[in-house]
Amino acid sequence: MEKDEKIVFSGIQPSGKLNIANYIGALSQWPNLQDEDKCIFCVVDYHAITVKKNPKELRKRVIETAKIYLAAGIDSEKSIIFKQSDVSAHTELAWILNCIGARISDLNKMTQFKDKTGENKESASVGLYDYPVLMAADILLYGTEVVPVGEDQIQHVELARDIAKRVNNTYGDIFTIPKAVVKKDGARIMSLLDPSKKMSKSDENENNAIALLDKPEVGRKKIMKAVTDSNTGIYFNLEDKPAISNLLNIYAGLGNREVKRLVKDHKDSGYGEFKNALADVVENFLITFQEKYNSYSDENVLEILEKGKERAEKIAQERLNKLKNAIGII
Ligand code: AMP
Ligand code: TRP
Repeated sequence: MEKDEKIVFSGIQPSGKLNIANYIGALSQWPNLQDEDKCIFCVVDYHAITVKKNPKELRKRVIETAKIYLAAGIDSEKSIIFKQSDVSAHTELAWILNCIGARISDLNKMTQFKDKTGENKESASVGLYDYPVLMAADILLYGTEVVPVGEDQIQHVELARDIAKRVNNTYGDIFTIPKAVVKKDGARIMSLLDPSKKMSKSDENENNAIALLDKPEVGRKKIMKAVTDSNTGIYFNLEDKPAISNLLNIYAGLGNREVKRLVKDHKDSGYGEFKNALADVVENFLITFQEKYNSYSDENVLEILEKGKERAEKIAQERLNKLKNAIGII
């Protein structure tokens, strides 16, 4: 490993249709890191089964998600791309951390579990409740320092930090302490029809989100249909202008421009003109993204995942064995 090279780890669940919020919040950070750092990007299929999944669809989404990583600019030579279930050290470490690192009081604080389950906590799977421990295992296995994610994952990365510190206190220097990194603009992209709610790939109304594989003209239409705020003017203010601020974040994220610059350029625009300019950016982004996506075959991707598995396994197994030895399992 080169001096100053950091280890970067992130992952996305192969569930639902990945959307522009996943791209802006998480994926768009990844390619920038791979020249300097050692990057590991995982398709986290064991996370996806925390809620019921159709087996055929899950298999399809794993390949789709890996292709999306490649289309976003991940280079499979520079970075490791692999499927979580291919490296059994993840689930093995999760079990150990369940026993020696994580506490029920930690998991009871997780806001995502509360939000996802609402009134139905009792019927949720134990896996959904425990998922942040599996996520901690993903991160800690690789000596990760940097975890590029959207804002909603910060709490989970903090739990991974706490678990790492607890284990190190008892068993010595096993884990590196990781840190979440989020984007300045776009760590939390909101729904197009309701800017008080997060854009989410599990949303039932497809008009709330633009999928990365939506037809470009569909993406354009969704922007034109997006809600705006009641008063006029294009400026950034989350309280006063939640809808326009969200559209500015989307514009910045897909158009590679700073929000500040966009506000300057559009200060005299009406909503229609502003949305039209953003619709152009979205349409062009989707065209380019999907050209790249379609340049990979399923066979390409399976090969890449197979190579990734071998590379990831070596790194993961070493730290897992060190911990197993420290706790008396080997
Ligand atoms: P998920 O859709 O929960 O699998 O999230 C995959 C990645 O996208 C994670 O890093 C999330 O933090 C990020 N992400 C999900 N939704 C958003 C959003 N609305 N805005 C920004 N980032 C997001
Ligand atoms: N929990 C993350 C999500 O739903 C996905 C994830 C699993 C992840 N393991 C990870 C992200 C490790 C970063 C690092 O979005």
